[in-house]
Amino acid sequence: LDGNLLVRVRAAGLNRADYIEFRGAPERLKGRELAGEVIEVGPNASSWSVGDRVMALGAGFSTEPVLIPQDLAIPVPDSFSWEEAGALPLALCTMHDAIVTNGQLARDGRVVMHAATSGVGITGVQLSALYGASVVYATSRSAKKLDTLRPHLRELDSDLVLIDTSTHAFEQIATEVDLIVDNVGASVLEANIKACAVRGRIVQVGRLGGAIAEINLDELARKRIALVGVTFRTRTPGEVAEVVQRAAADTREHLASLTPRIERVWPVADLQEALTAMGTDSHVGKIVVTHDR
Ligand SMILES: NC(=O)c1ccc[n+]([C@@H]2O[C@H](COP(=O)([O-])OP(=O)(O)OC[C@H]3O[C@@H](n4cnc5c(N)ncnc54)[C@H](OP(=O)(O)O)[C@@H]3O)[C@@H](O)[C@H]2O)c1
Repeated sequence: LDGNLLVRVRAAGLNRADYIEFRGAPERLKGRELAGEVIEVGPNASSWSVGDRVMALGAGFSTEPVLIPQDLAIPVPDSFSWEEAGALPLALCTMHDAIVTNGQLARDGRVVMHAATSGVGITGVQLSALYGASVVYATSRSAKKLDTLRPHLRELDSDLVLIDTSTHAFEQIATEVDLIVDNVGASVLEANIKACAVRGRIVQVGRLGGAIAEINLDELARKRIALVGVTFRTRTPGEVAEVVQRAAADTREHLASLTPRIERVWPVADLQEALTAMGTDSHVGKIVVTHDR
């Protein structure tokens, strides 16, 4: 237990990587994020107490208590339900790393958030606004999903431009962009380069639209674009902890403005149904499982 917390899981968000595991290697399925209460505190984890509400990266589908290194745990704000808390940690850490650490978003920057209706995408729009983006262009292939998204983002401090990419070329609307958070990949890479301003940055987060692309390197060089890939898979435990701690410290006072949108909550016993629902791509925000006790 040294340096760890023992946590009883109350809720866990589903992530696209869980769905991919469910389809390809279901025996590995254990979840990637959770919220729950601390039931035991190990030596050298003394900033926490039994009964604290935590959210963390970890095995959220576990029906047994899970060990969480204390530096992967974030205190849950009082205003959050268990479901909201279980739905935020991975999106928060991924998007803080993409927008702030790698994206270097400056105040008044112009941002494109691809797949903005996704779990990570919504948090990314909210976080861009928190970091002072002047405008966020939020893309989706579905007008219906954008209509569902709009009310959740009505209190944003940035201008929000919703772009339905099934009917509009986003790069004709979003121009001179400083940061593109790319949750889609190959199918948008060439247009990303067109949309970027000189010295724009593209942070490559997800590849649901493909992993292999052809791009015009002349244009990349001319605009001096920084194209940065990110993933948790090749990070050491220390690097993951750094990402978590940076995201937690920077957003501590502002978590209420990062409340996730919950599409639907399922009992953990129905995890397979919840994952099957994710595969239909009809959700806006997060699908969550709860461990009702
Ligand atoms: N690098 C990292 O550290 C990291 C961490 C977390 C997540 N991710 C990645 O981020 C992405 C989103 O994850 P999530 O868990 O938030 O997923 P999610 O909630 O399931 O949302 C994925 C969304 O992507 C869009 N999409 C699906 N297929 C697409 C395609 N072929 N072309 C364009 N858009 C497509 C859909 O939105 P519309 O129907 O609205 O277009 C879909 O709802 C995934 O690729 C995931 O692997 C990366």
